[in-house]
Amino acid sequence: MYICLCRGISNHDVRDAVKDGAQTAKCVFKSCGKKPKCGKCIMYLSDCISQQSSEPLSRDLSLSRVTL
Ligand code: FES
Repeated sequence: MYICLCRGISNHDVRDAVKDGAQTAKCVFKSCGKKPKCGKCIMYLSDCISQQSSEPLSRDLSLSRVTL
């Protein structure tokens, strides 16, 4: 799902950016190599970052259980 329509940033892009350490919308844009245009997505990006920030830990734990 696209979060930023102007720059084509998806929730998967946000997930990858968060995995790389992005904690703000600005960091997500930088991680994607893009700059904001209209700025209407900032609130949605922030929500997505918060959501993604809490999910990877549980995913990593479940994956570590599988590989052990
Ligand atoms: S929707 Fe993201 S900059 Fe316009």
